[in-house]
Amino acid sequence: MTVRHLLRDDDLSPAEQAAVLDLAATMKRDRFGHRPLAGPSGPRSVALLFDKPSLRTRVSFEVGVAELGGHPLVIDSRSTHFGRGETLGDAARVLSRYVAAIVLRTFGDDRLAEVAAGATVPVMNGLTDGFHPCQLLADLLTVREWCGGTASRTLAYLGDTTNNMAHSYLLAGVTAGMAVRVAGPDGFAPDPAVVTRAGEIAAGTGGSVRLLRDPVEAVTGADVVATDAWTSMGQEGQEGQERDRGAALSAYQVNEKLLAYAAPQVAVLHCLPAHRGEEITDQVLDGPHSAVFDQAENRLPAQKALLTWLLSTGGAR
Ligand code: CP
Ligand code: NVA
Repeated sequence: MTVRHLLRDDDLSPAEQAAVLDLAATMKRDRFGHRPLAGPSGPRSVALLFDKPSLRTRVSFEVGVAELGGHPLVIDSRSTHFGRGETLGDAARVLSRYVAAIVLRTFGDDRLAEVAAGATVPVMNGLTDGFHPCQLLADLLTVREWCGGTASRTLAYLGDTTNNMAHSYLLAGVTAGMAVRVAGPDGFAPDPAVVTRAGEIAAGTGGSVRLLRDPVEAVTGADVVATDAWTSMGQEGQEGQERDRGAALSAYQVNEKLLAYAAPQVAVLHCLPAHRGEEITDQVLDGPHSAVFDQAENRLPAQKALLTWLLSTGGAR
């Protein structure tokens, strides 16, 4: 039996993604009715490793593992030998002797790949510089709830189109059969390899990919409008660069004026944390089209479902 991981959004086929989302909806309806980690003779543990800060990912995984009857171990990687002297592969081999699964939030995707290569248990990407696939499962569950489904719905992602969320919207969105529009300024192109891969997936799902400059064109008629911070973790503290990024990205702010071009029942997504007044206004974040707090809530059932699926026959190849 091959161990399955979720390192990038395209690690799940369209049918597998749909199965995880179906299970997430079931688990949301019956929050305390599923305890696959309780085990026949004791709780199974899940290691949650963080190289970067987190509120939602940490808490939703920690609460989720507990609700599944398991034992969550939150590990700030600075308090271990993780990546200092001891290789990530060795650490993953050791962890695999103790725990049923590993979640890692880190910088480069190469670090995550090293952990997955050493692990003999499922590894989940809790955010890397490249992707945020656990977030996208919550986002797609939210789109199902707000839009009645994902297939042939249009999602416009605006702002920093080079970041993890842009890449994950491209891959996971087309996997769910969505028309994904990504709009950002010159110099903010998403990874071309990710765009190509999204196009390949879209060809099989009826989804589509468009890269745009014009925020109005991107938002026009969209069922979902999404954005994210203009400066991601690891990019902060570069005073001049942050100012330059803000200047380049200001035309892509999600505000009421821009939202007026979207579909009448548009749902607005933001993975949070939000920088109110920068990439999104208070009026939109707190307004009637904001699905943002449902989206944050959905991290919990989405990750419980993912973990359950990866540890069950669904995750075996
Ligand atoms: N959206 C998200 O991943 O939030 P955290 O950084 O708080 O985990
Ligand atoms: N793009 C953001 C997402 C935070 C959840 C970052 O990487 O900081």
